[in-house]
Amino acid sequence: METAPERVASQGDITAEIVGIAAEYQRAGVEEAQPRLDYPPYRSSVLRHPRYPLQGVDPEEIERWAPCFGHQDVAPLDADLTAGHPGEPIGQRIIVTGRVLDESGRPAAGQLIEIWQANASGRYRHQRDQHPAPLDPNFTGVGRCLTGPDGTYRFLTVKPGPYPWRNHHNAWRPAHIHFSVFGTAFTQRVVTQMYFPGDPLFDLDPFFQSIVDPAARQRLIATYDHEVTQPEYATGYRWDIVLSGSCRTPTEGGADDG
Ligand SMILES: [Fe+2]
Repeated sequence: METAPERVASQGDITAEIVGIAAEYQRAGVEEAQPRLDYPPYRSSVLRHPRYPLQGVDPEEIERWAPCFGHQDVAPLDADLTAGHPGEPIGQRIIVTGRVLDESGRPAAGQLIEIWQANASGRYRHQRDQHPAPLDPNFTGVGRCLTGPDGTYRFLTVKPGPYPWRNHHNAWRPAHIHFSVFGTAFTQRVVTQMYFPGDPLFDLDPFFQSIVDPAARQRLIATYDHEVTQPEYATGYRWDIVLSGSCRTPTEGGADDG
């Protein structure tokens, strides 16, 4: 028997589902501060999100073969995504800084933070990103640094553009920077995304909206900080990452291709 091809969802379909789930969440009155793994509007995850509880493993055993990172491998220039090429990348130069904290506000010092992002045109330097926006020969889009004694990190980069991602017809991701934070052990790694204030795509994006709690979503949005902005040079954004507790930064439960 032939089955009809599945119709590609429109933005209207996806938005209606997002609104419906948000209303249902509000009615339930139970706080959910982390992304839902089973979130149907995020179509490209429907068949691959985990369906069973995570398996516990012995963290000590993992430490025997997991990668480890010596601070001597991280150079100060690694935090400057505008450097390392013959010229300056195209785009709005920005400084992104903040602190990595635990639930009681204590700094997490010496943490390896890695970031990756699209260029100012919204294109990744990656084989799987072939959408027709220009690559920038002066921008690779990856950086890393270690947090200082007070938990502070700081990157110099350019503001990434929004990009299409084929989750549904005319699907666009809000501009974002991917963050990975290693704890004191490989098993503590957290991966998340930082967004920019006022992005018009927030309400339309099922990846962002899979965090159904509005206050939790807000914790992923940086604030513009004029104290961080440098005259004639770069605008500044501040974003703290909280590793535990009730104000914990929402993190991704699995692989991300958003
Ligand atoms: Fe991305």
